[in-house]
Amino acid sequence: MEKPTNRVFSGVQPTGNLHLGNYLGAIRNFVGLQDTHECLYCVVDMHAITVWQDPKELTANTREVAAAYIASGINPETHIIFNQSKVTAHAELAWILNCVARIGWLNRMTQFKDKAGKDREKASVGLYAYPVLMAADILAYRATHVPVGEDQKQHLELARDTAQKFNNDFEAEDFFPLPEPLIMGAATRVMSLRDGTKKMSKSDPSAYSRITLSDNADEIAQKIRKARTDPEPLPEVKDGLAERPEAANLVNIYAALSDTTTEQVLKEFGGKMFSEFKPALADLAVDKLSPITGEMKHLLADPAYIDGELEKGAERARAIADPVLKRVKEIVGFI
Ligand code: TYM
Repeated sequence: MEKPTNRVFSGVQPTGNLHLGNYLGAIRNFVGLQDTHECLYCVVDMHAITVWQDPKELTANTREVAAAYIASGINPETHIIFNQSKVTAHAELAWILNCVARIGWLNRMTQFKDKAGKDREKASVGLYAYPVLMAADILAYRATHVPVGEDQKQHLELARDTAQKFNNDFEAEDFFPLPEPLIMGAATRVMSLRDGTKKMSKSDPSAYSRITLSDNADEIAQKIRKARTDPEPLPEVKDGLAERPEAANLVNIYAALSDTTTEQVLKEFGGKMFSEFKPALADLAVDKLSPITGEMKHLLADPAYIDGELEKGAERARAIADPVLKRVKEIVGFI
C-alpha cells in the first residue's frame, strides 16, 4: 500500500457561529495548502454531536461549513470536501483506536475539562473520546499534515501518540505516519473582542465577542468599533504588546488579514490611537470577508448543490479510507 508524503487532513465542527478565529486559524490556511498538498477537508458532524445539537440546525450548519470552505477558495473538484458521518471508516477506526489510546492521555485533555465544565459526570462519553475520533479522522487517510489553530495542538499530540502506540503494539513499523500540526499565520489564536484573555469561540454568549462569517459589512465594522481596547496608543515594537492582550489581538488580526506580520503592522500604526487603527481594521476586515460571506449566501441558496458536492467528496474519501481500514483490520487480527 502506497504511503502518502504530502496529504493534508483537517476538519471544522458544524456547530454554528463560524467565526474569524476559524477562518484565520484554519480555513484560510486550508486554501493555500491546495497548491502543494493533496487535501481533504471534512465537516466533522460526528464531533459536533458530542454536545447536544438540534438536528435541523446540525443539517443547516453542516451546509454552512461546506459553503464556507468553497466560498473561501477550496476547490471541491481538485481536492476533497465531505462530511464525516458519510464515511464509516472514521467511526470504525475510532473504535479500534479507543482500544489503543490510554485513559490517562484523555484525562489530560484541557478542551474536555473546559467543555465539560464543573459537572463532568454529565458530559457525554463522546465528548471524552472526542480526541480519539479526531485521531481516527487523520489516520484513516494516513495524513501527514494537519492545519489547525493553536487550541488543537494537544489533540494533535494525542493523535501522534496513538499512531505511535498502534505502530509499536502491532509491530506495524511506520504504518501510520505521525501527523505534523501546521499552525500558521499571525492569528493562530484569535481572542474574544470583549476580553483579550479569552479565545474567540462559537459558544460565547456575547455576539459582540466574535465576527462571524454571516455578519454583513455594517455588523463587522460595528463589532470592531465596539471591541474592547485600552487608552494607550499602539506601541512601535512587539514587546510593547506583552501586557495588552486586546491590543495584541487586534494587531494580530490586522496582520493575518493583510498577510503581513505583527512587526509590519506596528511599523505602520505604532504611535497611533485606536480611533485611527480601528477604522482601518474595520475596512480591511470588510474588504477581506465580505466577498466570502457574500459567496456563502449565494451557495447556501442552493442546498442541493452543496449536498451533491459533499456526496461526491465522500465517495472519493471512502476510496482512500476503506483500504486503510481494511489493512488495519488485518493488522489487528480481525477476520
Ligand atoms: P472547531 O470547529 O472547534 O475549530 C475549527 C478550526 O478553527 C480553529 N479555531 C481557532 N483558531 C484561531 N483562533 C480561534 N479563536 C479559534 N477557534 C477555533 C481550530 O483550531 C480548528 O483548527 N477538533 C477540531 C475539529 C476536528 C479536526 C479533526 C481538526 C475534528 N477532527 C481532524 C483537524 C483534524 C476543532 O476544534 O474544530
